[in-house]
Amino acid sequence: MDAQSLAARLKTSGLLRSQGLIGGKWVDAYDGKTVKVHNPATGEVITEVPCMGSRETKDAISSANDAFQSWSKVTAAERSRHLRKWYDLLISHKEELGQLITLEQGKPLKEAIGEVGYGASFIEFFSEEAKRVYGDIIPAPLADRRLFVLKQPVGVVGAITPWNFPLAMITRKVGPALACGCTVVIKPSELTPLTALAAAELSLQAGIPPGAVNVVMGKASDIGDSLLESSQVRKITFTGSTAVGKKLMAGAAATVKKLSLELGGNAPCIVFDDADVDVAVKGTLAAKFRNSGQTCVCANRVIVQEGIYERFATAFSKAVQNLQVGDGFSEGITQGPLINEAALHKVESFVEDAISKGAKILLGGRRHSLGRTFYEPTVMGDVKSDMLISREEVFGPVAPLLRFRTEEEAIHMANDTNAGLAAYIFTSNVQRTWRVTEALEYGLVGVNEGIVSTEVAPFGGVKQSGLGREGSKYGIDEYLELKYVCLGNMEH
Ligand code: SIN
Repeated sequence: MDAQSLAARLKTSGLLRSQGLIGGKWVDAYDGKTVKVHNPATGEVITEVPCMGSRETKDAISSANDAFQSWSKVTAAERSRHLRKWYDLLISHKEELGQLITLEQGKPLKEAIGEVGYGASFIEFFSEEAKRVYGDIIPAPLADRRLFVLKQPVGVVGAITPWNFPLAMITRKVGPALACGCTVVIKPSELTPLTALAAAELSLQAGIPPGAVNVVMGKASDIGDSLLESSQVRKITFTGSTAVGKKLMAGAAATVKKLSLELGGNAPCIVFDDADVDVAVKGTLAAKFRNSGQTCVCANRVIVQEGIYERFATAFSKAVQNLQVGDGFSEGITQGPLINEAALHKVESFVEDAISKGAKILLGGRRHSLGRTFYEPTVMGDVKSDMLISREEVFGPVAPLLRFRTEEEAIHMANDTNAGLAAYIFTSNVQRTWRVTEALEYGLVGVNEGIVSTEVAPFGGVKQSGLGREGSKYGIDEYLELKYVCLGNMEH
């Protein structure tokens, strides 16, 4: 089915929205301008959405602020019920949401439907956590005092989300925000706004009040600046590049906002001589090629000990060769296109740089014969730490293999970066597992496992990979303020 027919079908089901959402109303850009949304696999235009800017964002903030006055006072049990209803709706529309994700983002349909389950799990989890926002009673140092701590919602939240997970990066932010009584203005990527709009439509159907969830998209810098400048926005939560994260951090200083940043990674995937090769190949494949290498936690450097290097390289290349590239709607496809030309050029330039400095192509290494932004799943050998591909995130389907001798050397290579999001190790040695895990300067470590993301565990990085944690019981703290209360004169 072509993009237009699928879009028409999704429109009939009410899930393909092509307007922004402000104060519970679907609206166009005030100047009528639009931006086209493309299917990256075919280049077809799916639809157009409003190209919004600061005026619409200010109205969205004001709606969120009005809604905050009542939503923050609703009981936790009621917020929980609304979120649970939203979760049920997301799950009952799993297929259509998956289709929307594949249509605008390109990932294979099975993986897209998997993202819906993953994304919805944050809403389910935080619907439960809504009821567990406990305060504290503190033993008072003086007999006539009683001290306690209240946890209260921060207020209006600006959520700026990326194109690689059009649903899950929204729900991971909006779930905890709504659960504790905050309201949100979402700015999805202009490359993938349709899933965000569909999710927002389902939030209204779930009875989440108008204004609690707003969606604006279009001119990224105008929207970002309006969110930063507003004193009503008390928190910015962002997933995306480190460069943009730094700008948001600087911009948030003027109004001293709370900030959560999930930024770029440069994940090492260390394969020790004592690893089970099959486990290491399976885990590395998953860690590297999820979403065609377009995740912040994707293995960026596969660091392999010299005793297992040749065996691993052969088995891994064979596994990579079996990956099926194509339109995400076709049966059996595991690798979709890259999101756009810029992403393709970045991959090409990193590969060229590595080859020019002595790396060898073991598999792939070119644009795919399908054309457009498809790239061959690639394995490179003899990669060195000073090559661009080892220094920065490639965000594409290229696995560079680096060689090491000792455990100390592997740890040094792994930590020799400003990033610190995810790391993976493959080993059968328990003592080594602990030693290396403790030495890695990363927020997440997968041991003999390439997929570690789940709603129940804290997701986030150290160093320049970000601030704060998402998901899990810790994720809700990012949306709460502590208020210490001292009751005096209590002996009378
Ligand atoms: C990301 O790439 O930013 C998120 C990946 C994940 O949640 O696993």
